[in-house]
Amino acid sequence: MSARANAKSSGGEEFARAERAAKFIRSKTKLRPKIALVLGSGLGAFADGLESATRIPYERIPHFPRSTAVGHAGRLVIGKAGNVAVAAMQGRAHFYEGYSLKDVIFPMRVFARLGVRAAVLTNAAGGINLGFKQGTLIVMRDHINLQGSNPLIGPNDERFGPRFPDMTRAYDKEYRAAALEEARRLGIEVSEGVYAALTGPSYETPAEIRYLRTIGADVVGMSTVPEVIAARHMGIRILGISCVTNMAAGILDKPLDHGEVLATGERVQSQFIALLRAVLPRIAAGLN
Ligand code: HPA
Repeated sequence: MSARANAKSSGGEEFARAERAAKFIRSKTKLRPKIALVLGSGLGAFADGLESATRIPYERIPHFPRSTAVGHAGRLVIGKAGNVAVAAMQGRAHFYEGYSLKDVIFPMRVFARLGVRAAVLTNAAGGINLGFKQGTLIVMRDHINLQGSNPLIGPNDERFGPRFPDMTRAYDKEYRAAALEEARRLGIEVSEGVYAALTGPSYETPAEIRYLRTIGADVVGMSTVPEVIAARHMGIRILGISCVTNMAAGILDKPLDHGEVLATGERVQSQFIALLRAVLPRIAAGLN
């Protein structure tokens, strides 16, 4: 087979795989969620509180990537947050784990096949904006993709979406406003910001952080952006929330470590859960 023909068939294969995984998930639960959540490092507990929940380890779902990162349970939980049915990922696959970007975004492909129309993507991030404090929640306003690649590279399958997806309004304006409003109502410290995605797994150098600040980034992390690109490709509306688990490299006079990232995530967990619980009904209402 020529490289082109090979690439073409693997493009069609992604759709078939997503359909297979969706069929498997549908066979495990009667719930038909229209909202997906991806719960980042230290933020997975939200899914533990879902009612009428079905929990499926990633390794059971056909073609699903497993998460090897510490702080990621690696489980899909389909359940109800109040009246709202959701599909929540406790942990995700990252590019730095050695997965291809196609693997990283595969769950998004599956969600679209399941009928999901909105996604809440969350992550732990380093704070670049000097106005941010450790533990602050940031509503993502936009992103800068510095992972050096794009999950849509390769043949385009029109069944997913167009060749050249628009990214001017990647982060839904209504969702951003709803999240800010609910956070303020609940007394949760919140700001808006631009997320820069790097591959990791090494943290940034202080010089890289100064560079990121200059180009307009407020927070930095190693995830989310590929999923947002894939979701927008398929017309899924996005709310992105970062938890500033640490100030980025060189801001404070101390080294960074993953333990601190997880500890901060756990510290803000209850606020994070309260915010999600408040925002989900508003997202659901807009999808009816
Ligand atoms: N840099 C990159 N990714 C991160 C950070 C950081 O400082 N904190 C949590 N995820």
